[in-house]
Amino acid sequence: MKKRCLSGMRPSGKLHLGHLHGVLENWKRLQEEYECFFFVADWHALTTNYKRSWEVPENINDMVLDWLAVGIDPEKATLFIQSDIKEHAELHLLLSMITPLSWLERNPTYKEQKQQLKDKDISTYGFLGYPVLQAADIIMYKANKVPVGVDQLPHVELTREITRRFNYLYREVFPVPDALLAETPKLPGLDGRKMSKSYGNSIFISDSPDEIRKKIMTMVTDIERPRKSDPGDPEKRCIAFNLHKLYMPEERLKEIVEDCKAAKLGCVACKRELSEAVVKFLEPIWEKRAEYEKGAYDVKAVLKEGAKRARKEAQKTMEEVRDALWSQNVKSD
Ligand code: TRP
Repeated sequence: MKKRCLSGMRPSGKLHLGHLHGVLENWKRLQEEYECFFFVADWHALTTNYKRSWEVPENINDMVLDWLAVGIDPEKATLFIQSDIKEHAELHLLLSMITPLSWLERNPTYKEQKQQLKDKDISTYGFLGYPVLQAADIIMYKANKVPVGVDQLPHVELTREITRRFNYLYREVFPVPDALLAETPKLPGLDGRKMSKSYGNSIFISDSPDEIRKKIMTMVTDIERPRKSDPGDPEKRCIAFNLHKLYMPEERLKEIVEDCKAAKLGCVACKRELSEAVVKFLEPIWEKRAEYEKGAYDVKAVLKEGAKRARKEAQKTMEEVRDALWSQNVKSD
């Protein structure tokens, strides 16, 4: 039997290169090896966006098209929308009964987001319970592996604690899942901070070639190299070089480092070359996306089919959960 892998993504709009290298390439690899469930976490999107709830479904189709275009394959992985499987809500409720408040209040993501998203009122019950819903998503499918970015590690850790508590209180129903980190956990954006839509420093998968060229040309290179005739140190000081490492063939990368250090290669030419490499890398993805947009994939049908498969598993799990919960099994603390 193949091991299970599960991951989700909030539908927050267009995906960028950080999603592509940090998450989707990992999913693509895992779908060959594991029985995978990948889902759209639309209820999670609501925890921070409940005032503009209509935006959530609008983003789903676009996001799933991006998934398909980069090679997530509905023949290999089960793709579905969280809110199509009502069992997640039931399991979330039951897990909320056994999750101590203190575990949620000390969650670093919670503390951080409450500080950073000052313009949004997220002192809600639902937002505090975000990781409880995430735990329900994960253990519903008895997942063994959860591929996520580093920012999600505290949530997976909480999932492990909640799972152990359920297994201890009632019965050993669930395996305790492990997080799986991607090889490129954080891709720096145009300004050197983590690539993130809210920082306005992203290159989107669906940007046009010209948008990509323009964005890359604005990237800061080695600030201690004001003139081409000054020697540079790309590995230490150049923001654009983070992208070179991903998109340049290894041989060329070596030459670039040498020529930059020898003050032979100018930054403008170097970024132009980078732009073309990024465009070339994305071309096959754009081609597929255009094909799929024209109807080669019926996204709605893919998600409906996925929901059918996911629901079957979820119903099975919930039967076990209810059985464990209501059976007499007194634990003395
Ligand atoms: N919290 C995740 C994020 O923001 C999305 C998510 C929801 C998730 N449920 C999950 C990820 C279950 C992995 C497993 O990226």
